[in-house]
Amino acid sequence: MKAVAVKPKTQNSVHLVEMDKPSVSDIKDGRGVLVEVLRVGACGTDREINNGEYGVAPPGFDFLVLGHENLGRVVEVGENVKELRPGDYVVATVRRPGTSIYDTIGEQDFTTDDEYFERGISRLHGYMAEFYSESSDFLVKIPPKIVEIAILLEPLSIIEKGLKQASDIQERLKIWHPKTAAVLGTGSVGLLASMALSLRGYEVHGFGRDKREGYLNAELVEAVGGTYDSTAELTIPDSVKKYGEYDLIFECTGYSPIVFDAMQALNQNGVLILSSVTGGSRTVDAVPADKINQQFVLGNRVMFGTVNANREHFEGGVKDLALCEAMYAGWLGRMLTHKVEGLDNYARVFEILNNAGGFKAIKTYFEVSKI
Ligand code: BGC
Repeated sequence: MKAVAVKPKTQNSVHLVEMDKPSVSDIKDGRGVLVEVLRVGACGTDREINNGEYGVAPPGFDFLVLGHENLGRVVEVGENVKELRPGDYVVATVRRPGTSIYDTIGEQDFTTDDEYFERGISRLHGYMAEFYSESSDFLVKIPPKIVEIAILLEPLSIIEKGLKQASDIQERLKIWHPKTAAVLGTGSVGLLASMALSLRGYEVHGFGRDKREGYLNAELVEAVGGTYDSTAELTIPDSVKKYGEYDLIFECTGYSPIVFDAMQALNQNGVLILSSVTGGSRTVDAVPADKINQQFVLGNRVMFGTVNANREHFEGGVKDLALCEAMYAGWLGRMLTHKVEGLDNYARVFEILNNAGGFKAIKTYFEVSKI
């Protein structure tokens, strides 16, 4: 079968490879599932891996099959799989257990291992292939009614985990009724965060670099009831004069200096969530350190980082996708701006990914096989 791979740590090495078709018996204990890949999304992580900044090949290989945003159809199940059957639609989680105590209790998204295992990213082949096999434990069933937009489940799972951590952390307060949220970044992750916060009843304020006029992402934030401002015209600290301090801020820009702006815009008892994996080496000057520190101390403010997602966050994401379709029919479909047919056209996917602004792309994905 065909697959799209890179040579990790080598710039622009994306290429097609020919591999053996996997089988259910690759997985022990009769828990294997053979899945036909229907769609695979491409995101900033794939771009960074193809830039040679990130990514590790599986042991014994000098290439890594890419792809972690996925949607597939079950072809065959092992004898101990009772919860899935051929024809079911599934999305697979990304990280697999390593050795830390968190991994051994099924919380590998909190691993403390330096070497972690993520399909399509780190030490495990991904889903940019015609088929994959996996244990049923890592597959989440997709209701047929939302299959068309289910390729957005993996990126949404990152938001679901972030929001779950925020509410867990805020249990420190005996009462917390957050009202306003700022979402920094209105790429696909920021848009999904805006949607998830809007579904939870927040007043949502989205911020991006682009001007409002003719910007689809801004329209989408407004379509779920939010506001949109360009940070070229309104900085995050200044936005507080317009909207007040935010009870929750979700950072998803990929631009780390904005974190220090966000720290100055958080309400008392508020929570700032960081989700950008910034592989570069940026530094910032002139951070008002005393002011920020004092505000954090005197206002009991919290900032935390979040990565990856576990099965429960994918399951929460399925519910939010369905609720979003019920409340804002067609909204998620508008995010799927660029479909590329066939794995052979990988060069096109990376051309769009490397110039998402120019292409006005929100979500770019391969259609590997028809739904
Ligand atoms: C993926 C996560 C992963 C993270 C770090 C993200 O793009 O969605 O599943 O944990 O990259 O590798």
